[in-house]
Amino acid sequence: MRTQVAIIGSGPSGLLLGQLLTEAGIDNIILDRVDKDYILGRVRAGVLEEGTVGLLDQAKAGARLHAGGLPHDGFSLAFDGRDHRIDLYELTGGRRVTVYGQTEVTRDLMERREASGALSIYDAANVTPQGFDGRSPFATYVKDGAARRIDCDFIAGCDGFHGASRKVVPERAIKCFEKVYPFGWLGLLADVAPVSHELIYANHPRGFALCSMRSATRSRYYLQCPLDERVEDWSDDRFWDELRRRLPAHHAEALKTAPSFEKSIAPLRSFVAEPMRFGRLFLVGDAAHIVPPTGAKGLNLAASDVHYLFSGLIEYYREGSDHGIDAYSQVALSRVWKSVRFSWWMTTMMHRFPNTGDFDQRIQEAELDYLTHSRAASTVLAENYVGLPF
Ligand code: FAD
Ligand code: DHB
Repeated sequence: MRTQVAIIGSGPSGLLLGQLLTEAGIDNIILDRVDKDYILGRVRAGVLEEGTVGLLDQAKAGARLHAGGLPHDGFSLAFDGRDHRIDLYELTGGRRVTVYGQTEVTRDLMERREASGALSIYDAANVTPQGFDGRSPFATYVKDGAARRIDCDFIAGCDGFHGASRKVVPERAIKCFEKVYPFGWLGLLADVAPVSHELIYANHPRGFALCSMRSATRSRYYLQCPLDERVEDWSDDRFWDELRRRLPAHHAEALKTAPSFEKSIAPLRSFVAEPMRFGRLFLVGDAAHIVPPTGAKGLNLAASDVHYLFSGLIEYYREGSDHGIDAYSQVALSRVWKSVRFSWWMTTMMHRFPNTGDFDQRIQEAELDYLTHSRAASTVLAENYVGLPF
């Protein structure tokens, strides 16, 4: 089989890149090691920047998002028993974010791909990018017990943090930067009205909590938890009790509960691989970088990578120029590091770290106080939260 761009991974970055290419008339095949339902069962990000929404529109996959996504003009930072609203719209001159689940983004892109007739191969085992140092790269895989091969011009490694694409790069050619945080997030999804119409990021002596949502009737909540915590040890009642304790009293009293239908624990990590291009292999999204979820940057960063790579590929196919693909790694990394910095900073400011001394605790309190009382500091937060330009 032959295609122009072989895309490894059918998560948001692979699907978005695939759809932009298909709309532009560039042939592509997506390979994923699992099936569609498994991918759609993963509950992850929930906040989209305007740039991400714009790309989904460009991919002609934005209709449901515009009908059902929730525009948010601000959010709350809760600490010391009170709420402090960050007015995103006012502080950024009219910008906002959209609350719309990653599962829905993925579903919209998959439906669009099916309608356009582009090929996705699911349940592909041992997917391996090869020959990317030369002019004729190819990907091999096993499907239904038979070895297969796709020849292509380029390979886009959109296969997430644990994928195959980064792993085939020789160690001497790649440098990885990593910071692991000493806690995780326990997430819960329930069909019940959200406690507030805007998101609440809460810093509390018992640990961080986040109140988010998927719709007016579906809530998404998170609790900071130790890394060795087990989901089985968290009954719904235990979760709701702990969440109430970490919220300001008026929210705790207003919190409505319902049986959960998803609970999971995610570790927190900052990770960047440099560079993001190796000959004719490009790393995109989580395959190249991970951010802790505080500030909701992971999915949005995957989208900006896709934007830069897509622009480079368009330049290559329409104008015969290598300029865009040559610049991809440097341009993408420049934005990646700014989001890595923002996610690290917001994580540091909002969580309780084990063994924090009195000095560090006072510094955190001073930072939150400054942030919520200085317009300049609030603007820095707002500008990063709504997303830096790309
Ligand atoms: P992925 O979504 O990881 O997609 C990669 C795809 O590649 C998958 O479909 C996978 O099956 C496939 N794949 C993997 N290995 C192979 C292989 N060897 N061969 C073929 N296919 C392969 N971000 C936020 O902004 N907010 C959040 O709350 C949030 N929560 C998260 C919770 C968890 C548990 C995780 C893991 C991530 C979370 N993120 C969150 C991050 C966000 O979900 C990611 O940044 C986003 O999914 C990145 O998209 P991607 O397409 O690059 O990678
Ligand atoms: C969600 C996740 C985040 O990491 C975040 O900062 C905001 C919202 C969510 O899943 O809804």
